[in-house]
Amino acid sequence: MNILKNTLSVGAETPFVFLHVSDIHLSESDENDSPERRAFAADRKRDFAFAPAAVEFIRNYVKKTGSPIVNTGDMLDFITPENIRIARGLVEDTDMMMAAGNHEYWHCPNNRFSYDDVPETYAGKNRSLAEVERGLGIDIRFSCREIGGVNLVCMDDSDYHIDAELFEKLKTVEAEGKPILLFMHIPLYSAHIGREAKFSLNAPPQYFENCHPVDVFERTPDELTCQICDYIRQSPLIKCVLSGHTHANTEILGLDAQDQIITGCNTIREITVI
Ligand SMILES: [Fe+2]
Repeated sequence: MNILKNTLSVGAETPFVFLHVSDIHLSESDENDSPERRAFAADRKRDFAFAPAAVEFIRNYVKKTGSPIVNTGDMLDFITPENIRIARGLVEDTDMMMAAGNHEYWHCPNNRFSYDDVPETYAGKNRSLAEVERGLGIDIRFSCREIGGVNLVCMDDSDYHIDAELFEKLKTVEAEGKPILLFMHIPLYSAHIGREAKFSLNAPPQYFENCHPVDVFERTPDELTCQICDYIRQSPLIKCVLSGHTHANTEILGLDAQDQIITGCNTIREITVI
């Protein structure tokens, strides 16, 4: 795995180090899955061959460093009992926090690449995430942990939308008056995000209007999501948004009202917070 190191200056009471990973895309299957899904898993494993070794590397790295770890989603490539079993083992061994990714509600095959299945997939998103939450034993839609006087918040934006309920939870954390590191699967659009703009939350339509119809359906934010994104951008306490989804490592530091760090596949970020 690649190891990248960054420092974020947010006004921590006590400096600390944490680890950030994203987009492991476990693509395992076993006899509990249909032959069709097993064939699909074998195909997907070609793209994410690093995943099993990455899980072991992360487990050992957390053990060695003793640092807390946050995962910004797509831990699973799609929902299978075997993927859930492996992910749960990592959660239990590392006490990992996690924000849901768009693959955490993907019952493949045949509910993402076929446009006909898309409305049903999105309607069932929170049901699927609840299934994964039961499997992993953690909340992947919203969680908060205070470390060194800083609130680390994981919030679900995995379908390019943020729910009113999660926004209220974010405001409740913010009322504590502590600096916030906000972890979401999909990065927030920034004029400095470059070629990843089409994969970002609240991107201007010109970045995705020529994409596949499924992507246009997915990436068009509702009015509330646009308001929440503006709120995040203007919050004096949200110091950095950390995300994944693009599968590339990107840093937007000192250019916008708040910093952004995107962590790509097969990478551990070791971030010092001061
Ligand atoms: Fe991903």
